[in-house]
Amino acid sequence: MTASGYDAGRKPGTETLGGHAARQLLRLGEIAGLARADSKVYARTLVEALGPVAERPLHLPPPSDSFISDDHTPVEFSLSFEPDAAPTLRVLLEPGAGDTGPAENGRTGLRVLRELAGRWGISTGRLDELEDLFLPPSPEGPLALWCALELRPGSVPRVKAYLNPAANGVKNAAKTVRKALKRLGHRQAFKALPDGDRLLFFALDLGDWDEPRAKVYLAHHDLPAAEVAALSRMDGGPAPAEIEEFLRLATGADTGADDGPRRRPVRRPFQTCHAFTKTGSGLPSGFTLYVPVRDHAPHDGEALARATDLLKRYAIDPAPLHQALTAVTERRPEDGVGLVAYLGLAHQQGRPPRIMTYISSEAYQVRPPVAPRPAGAAAGR
Ligand code: TRP
Repeated sequence: MTASGYDAGRKPGTETLGGHAARQLLRLGEIAGLARADSKVYARTLVEALGPVAERPLHLPPPSDSFISDDHTPVEFSLSFEPDAAPTLRVLLEPGAGDTGPAENGRTGLRVLRELAGRWGISTGRLDELEDLFLPPSPEGPLALWCALELRPGSVPRVKAYLNPAANGVKNAAKTVRKALKRLGHRQAFKALPDGDRLLFFALDLGDWDEPRAKVYLAHHDLPAAEVAALSRMDGGPAPAEIEEFLRLATGADTGADDGPRRRPVRRPFQTCHAFTKTGSGLPSGFTLYVPVRDHAPHDGEALARATDLLKRYAIDPAPLHQALTAVTERRPEDGVGLVAYLGLAHQQGRPPRIMTYISSEAYQVRPPVAPRPAGAAAGR
């Protein structure tokens, strides 16, 4: 399989970040059933949105300490699955990854997002209304603005913007999110959110969505499964038993909540996303749970097995996920951990539940697998 254009002039040592990510996108596009012409447009868009860092040779360190991925590649792919359909390919990227600080990073992000939106006839009005809240003159990290593209057929993606609730400092995050929701007309929404340890992201759907969402992401450290199962606030959301089953499958029943740091000193928290569409009810119309499967599996072979079980449980063909891992890397899943970064379960009113799999680009680094046994068998690398 060639990835025309991006293979040209590809000699060892000359590979660039943009070339690497574009080639991954072209291959994933095929798996997601996109027409070649659409994939090519999207690959070019990705390279353009990355800007100058796309040209950066991969033998140099990452352009910045992007929080998008563990190895600081400012790109992450995901496949969203539902029964009886090809998976939807999405790409998350940080347009300001080459900038020196969060203020500049945010300005680049806005400029690129507006440029792309203009090209596709999409309004950034909802984002513009919140600019002063999330992009103040001296914002704090760990992100300023990320952009996600849902790569649907037809060469015009659906667009999402991700903002930092802690842009004005962690202690002001709740106030920032409350104000943002209010400005968008969701006056009661903040009150509806469950408790969390931290507000992680604030996201907006831009453009041609049936029901554009405003989404709030929360982190939940060390919460037992039964309590995680009670975090949904949406009407007609998932039954607790479904969430517990998802957790069991995604973590391998190794939630880390009660068995201490057996495998890893630090596990990333579970995350929940609460999506608001209607301004009337005050309640979210969507709930998503994310499990950092890479912190609950010794290697990606195991993460892939978990994802496979999960997809089958939802009567979804897991083959595209297996193909996707082969598409993004030549390494064996067993030889690292983190290629599958998160597994997600999304419920949104009026839609069937979806399973999301987040796939790392690994442009810079592969995290070594966890040694299978403390003694005996060879520890791998
Ligand atoms: N890399 C960050 C994290 O691991 C942010 C992030 C990237 C993320 N993709 C995600 C968070 C998917 C949840 C789901 O937290």
